[in-house]
Amino acid sequence: MKVIAILNQKGGVGKTTLSINIARALQLGDFNVVLVDADPQGSARDWNDANEGQLIPVVGLDRKSLPADIKNLSGYDFAIVDGAPQTKELAIAAIKSADIVLIPVQPSPLDIWATNDLIELVRERQELTGDKPKAAYIVSRQIQNTTVGNEVRNVLAESGIKVFNSGTFQRIAYSDIITQGKTVFESHDDKAKSEMIKITNELGEFINE
Ligand SMILES: Nc1ncnc2c1ncn2[C@@H]1O[C@H](COP(=O)(O)OP(=O)(O)OP(=O)(O)O)[C@@H](O)[C@H]1O
Ligand SMILES: [Mg+2]
Repeated sequence: MKVIAILNQKGGVGKTTLSINIARALQLGDFNVVLVDADPQGSARDWNDANEGQLIPVVGLDRKSLPADIKNLSGYDFAIVDGAPQTKELAIAAIKSADIVLIPVQPSPLDIWATNDLIELVRERQELTGDKPKAAYIVSRQIQNTTVGNEVRNVLAESGIKVFNSGTFQRIAYSDIITQGKTVFESHDDKAKSEMIKITNELGEFINE
């Protein structure tokens, strides 16, 4: 099982949104996927309640024991870990459990700076293990018709951490689906679907790199 942790200690950057939609994209690609809600706020579990557990298996593992607990999940090709904001201890646990760390970041300087601590934690772990986890940034919630997303990609790339070419734009569909317990794949927004397919494909390439 590959563990993909979607982390950023900054709140509201799109961790849960990406987790749910990447999990669904992988599931539609015929993989067995479990969504791990590692956030005590329980957003992924609320989302799961809203669809009465009919879409993606969701488990809540929001304690420091995550790296051990996640090993008890069996029969899945992928575990997508929706990370918590703020709590350093939980970020460390998620990094420890992960093969891949994806860091959604909104296109603003403050948001870029806010990821420094997380990158530091990822590097500490990489030094300890020799390589794991691999980490990449995903630019999230870009504004249409601006080039800010690409400028941000250039700044992020200076960190030496991979930056995905794919990302999400600001779209109503992403917020609508959450409260409805759906994903973009049950919505009518083809652009959002296409974004999520591109992100998931790029994730697949990154895993195999
Ligand atoms: N690409 C997008 N377009 C429009 N709205 C978005 C997009 N991505 C996320 N949102 C909205 O922004 C808000 C925050 O997103 P989300 O809950 O995914 O972030 P988060 O990082 O998980 O937050 P938290 O740190 O509180 O867990 C939500 O209301 C969500 O619907
Ligand atoms: Mg969240």
